[in-house]
Amino acid sequence: MQVISDILPLRAIRREWQLAGKVIAFVPTMGNLHQGHLQLVEQARKAADIVVVSIFVNPMQFGANEDLESYPRTLEQDCTALEALGVDVVFTPKASDIYPRGLEQQTFVEVPGISYMICGASRPGHFRGVATIVCKLFNMVQPNHAFFGEKDFQQLQVIKAMVSDLSMNLQVHGVATARDKDGLALSSRNGYLSAEQRQIAPNLYRVMMEIADHIELGRRDFSKLIQGYTEELNSLGFKTDYIDIRCADTLLPPGHEDSNLVILMAAFLGKTRLIDNVSVSLQSE
Ligand code: PAF
Repeated sequence: MQVISDILPLRAIRREWQLAGKVIAFVPTMGNLHQGHLQLVEQARKAADIVVVSIFVNPMQFGANEDLESYPRTLEQDCTALEALGVDVVFTPKASDIYPRGLEQQTFVEVPGISYMICGASRPGHFRGVATIVCKLFNMVQPNHAFFGEKDFQQLQVIKAMVSDLSMNLQVHGVATARDKDGLALSSRNGYLSAEQRQIAPNLYRVMMEIADHIELGRRDFSKLIQGYTEELNSLGFKTDYIDIRCADTLLPPGHEDSNLVILMAAFLGKTRLIDNVSVSLQSE
């Protein structure tokens, strides 16, 4: 496995792969890899001859008061795990090479509409930062396939829209959320939780599953359902940012005829913001 930090050698090896007719799969990450990331890598390994993983904590997608500085950086440990999975290249660019003119002057990619709702409303500019870095990384790695976790459901939709809107020549794959035994979605930010908060955290998943059951049983008074469960989460110690029920394909509020829905949630436990989602498919009668 090669660890490459500069863009020129990455482009050089990319050219060699292309001449040899290799299929390339790419997993962009911010590092501090957990089982969820490793499952993306395993899927990538199955799909291609060459697997590239990037590790870059992207300053452009963090808000002013967010955890950019404290975001866990565990490069050595990450590389050991990636080598064991047969990854070919780990790309670890420097912020000064990715944003040579600084963030203020950086050309950006923004997917309108979908970037401004739900998480995008709570974190203005976040999806612009995500779309911009993913577009840049795609330009550098030029993969045939790219893999993203479904835990970041809205991010996945933003990236799919960007790839389609900009006619990018690759296939984007979503991979099911990896969970601990108690249901908590794996996330690098789970490491911020105290022992007590870690005990409370799986309630997010429990509540989502209960909402999914209610919907499957025919409940359609979504705002009442959301209000009740928001109060329950808050009484358990969460500060709920949002619970939302949306159309899974568009993320717009669902109409009566929509049968593919997604329940999305974000809630703080102390300073840690947790997100999760569950899809619900309604059987037509
Ligand atoms: O999901 C993430 O880890 C990041 O948002 C991504 C896609 C690597 C872009 O920085």
